[in-house]
Amino acid sequence: MPSGAGLEPQQFTVTSLEDWARADIYNNERLLRHDEDLRRAVERAKKEELPDIAVSPAQGKFLSLLARSIGAKRILEVGTLGGYSTIWLAKALPDDGELVTFELLEKHAQVARENIASAGLADKVQVVVGPAIDNLRALQPDVPFDLVFIDADKPSNVDYFREAKRLVRNNGVIIVDNVVRWGKVANLDHTDVDVEGVRALLAALKDDKDVDAVVMGTAGEKGYDGFLYGIVKKQ
Ligand code: SAH
Ligand code: DHB
Ligand code: MG
Repeated sequence: MPSGAGLEPQQFTVTSLEDWARADIYNNERLLRHDEDLRRAVERAKKEELPDIAVSPAQGKFLSLLARSIGAKRILEVGTLGGYSTIWLAKALPDDGELVTFELLEKHAQVARENIASAGLADKVQVVVGPAIDNLRALQPDVPFDLVFIDADKPSNVDYFREAKRLVRNNGVIIVDNVVRWGKVANLDHTDVDVEGVRALLAALKDDKDVDAVVMGTAGEKGYDGFLYGIVKKQ
């Protein structure tokens, strides 16, 4: 096995994506309640032919539980698409909570706004259109964010993470999606810009004493991938 981590094939038990997808669905049937707002959001994203790259239902619920666990009142998201992860996160907010989400494409933002409005979350969620890095750099919030979810163009991960660090409170949480990429990040045969964007982030974090982080692999309906989960210490 070509690898950047020195692993031998016999250390792996045979499994398949089918096993993981089945387990995901099995677990979701038991642990996820039907949510009409999320169902409509998926349906509208499909009808509008948005790319099928939103987080999975289990990942959405994980993000939502995480937000509730830390009592998040202010959430920032980079990469809105049709607002699927946005809705999961916004539903975790208390009545006076707020979520700001950045999206490059007007079309995606429009679909997201419709989904957010149908979910009754329009008063809590602001969708901002444009290159996320410009909007992140311009942001000077009076109150810092509790949680940032980074899920946009992967080559900008380092830049987004830098701004996320600036914008979160002490012990604020930063989650980055798609940091395993079917194992490609750790497989040095792969050198595409997305993989390199993730590697650059991991390299930056190696020497970052203000961030304590881990990658949790995710396998399920949407393939093999992972979240980076970091906590930021502010002086
Ligand atoms: N978080 C969403 C999925 C986001 S997909 C969910 O799980 O439901 C990634 C999104 O990032 C796409 O909608 C894409 O248009 C957007 N994007 C790509 N480059 C961007 C940029 N430079 N600034 C802001 N958004 C960007
Ligand atoms: C892609 C982007 C994502 O954010 C994701 O979760 C899955 C796939 C992509 O660009 O292919
Ligand atoms: Mg993603």
